[in-house]
Amino acid sequence: MCEVATAVDSLLEYYNQIKHGNVNQVAEKLYNLRITSREAPSSLPWLNNLLRDRLHKHDHHINPMYIDLLANRLDKQRLEAFISEYYWGSGYGFQREVINLVYKTTDDESFKEYLKLILIEEQKPRPHYMIFQEVITALGFQLKQRKPISLKFVQNQHEGYSSNVYHAFGYALGIEVEADYQISLLACALSNLYPDEISTHEYFEIHIDTSGEEMHAKETCLSIEKLIQSEQDIQTVIFGFDTAIRDTGTFLHEIRETLQ
Ligand SMILES: [Fe+2]
Ligand SMILES: [Fe+2]
Repeated sequence: MCEVATAVDSLLEYYNQIKHGNVNQVAEKLYNLRITSREAPSSLPWLNNLLRDRLHKHDHHINPMYIDLLANRLDKQRLEAFISEYYWGSGYGFQREVINLVYKTTDDESFKEYLKLILIEEQKPRPHYMIFQEVITALGFQLKQRKPISLKFVQNQHEGYSSNVYHAFGYALGIEVEADYQISLLACALSNLYPDEISTHEYFEIHIDTSGEEMHAKETCLSIEKLIQSEQDIQTVIFGFDTAIRDTGTFLHEIRETLQ
């Protein structure tokens, strides 16, 4: 009986073919694979374009922190520091301090319903921030004390998700698309040092297969489709998306500064 290749296996196989090239081009190819070439989630062309092209327009896919990771420029101590703060901002912070809290306080029914869906996804098969803690341990790292950087990022995300519903949905879409690229890139970068742990840990499979971040982004698009009525609404969604990418870029930049 032949084993079916997992989504992570396929990603890493592709990465191993391309990884010896110029690092910016490697990032470009990963972005194309994960974001540009995916199936169109929406019937609205502007929304598909937002999902596929916008992050690239910001050059976010080649931000210096991601390039350092892909180029294996971090020693173990710096990698541990990066992963810890990333956990506090994008793992624990996102799940416990952003979507969980906004879900309790939002008074917009469509956004509440959407957040409920994402909250359920983030619990399967158990809370993803806890699974990410297991990754940290599996790689031989210890979770370091939280820095103000991730607190600021959480505050920014909280504002983005609590803003008016168009902005909030655009922000959420930015976070979901970014997470797909971010987690894929992290899996590839870490596979250089920890190939077995990355290819077998369920954290990566959960997020990288089509029912992971790709589906979250699709669900976000479908909610946005139902809501949009005017050009003004579209512009507000796009603004929310841009804000999420900028906030994430700032978070990564600030972590990188502590590693110099
Ligand atoms: Fe997750
Ligand atoms: Fe997600």
